[in-house]
Amino acid sequence: MPRTPFLTANWKMHKTVAEAQRFAAAFLPLVKDATAVEIAIAPPFTALSRMAEALAGSNVSLAAQNVNPEPQGAYTGEVSALMLAEVGCRYGIVGHSERRALYREDDALIARKALALLERGIRPIVCVGETLEQREAGATFEVIGAQLSGSLDGLPGERAPEIVIAYEPVWAIGTGRTATPEIAQEVHAFVRGRLAERFGAAAQAMRIQYGGSVKPENVDDLMARPDIDGALVGGASLDPEAFARIARFRA
Ligand code: PGA
Repeated sequence: MPRTPFLTANWKMHKTVAEAQRFAAAFLPLVKDATAVEIAIAPPFTALSRMAEALAGSNVSLAAQNVNPEPQGAYTGEVSALMLAEVGCRYGIVGHSERRALYREDDALIARKALALLERGIRPIVCVGETLEQREAGATFEVIGAQLSGSLDGLPGERAPEIVIAYEPVWAIGTGRTATPEIAQEVHAFVRGRLAERFGAAAQAMRIQYGGSVKPENVDDLMARPDIDGALVGGASLDPEAFARIARFRA
């Protein structure tokens, strides 16, 4: 089943509103004819609204980096799925390893976040990935399998094609150390197998992104692998030319 490649920029805590607008002005012309792929940008919350205006009518959609699973209430500093839907988010990242590690997010919370997004029509990008210690201990598949079953718990099977998985080995994030295409493909095939157990035939339609030091120099080899359907890009997505080259990968 053909899957439209999907490239997402995860800006993390980078770019003011003015910087985000400058990025959009430089980036959009570079990808305007990249119609065979899907592209999304996840800026900080403060830039979402103005980025929605900057991206309107383009082939690039808006994504959020996080969400609170509650519909509303006394949760100082948090943002709901309805708020993200209102400003035009089409995607939302949940369970990024930085949130798992720095903010103690567990699989149950991540599953609730993904469900809250789906209920507002926003497609979740659910991140999974093992640490270096877990990989060296031979626990990669066990860790990824547990993260997948926990983070997808309770999500409605009929919405499976809207769910995106991002495999991001923690040891490759921001380190310049990319998983080889062989290592990434091996884990992606495992992920697809688990998705098939969970969602049946719909797993063939689900996109699995690779993340962890994706760059213009390595994207082509990664995207040539059968189960690598896109990329979640941090550092290299901050530069319009680099991210445009990634979005225009040659597989
Ligand atoms: P990186 O980040 O591309 O800078 O490694 C990827 C991510 O954390 O999503």
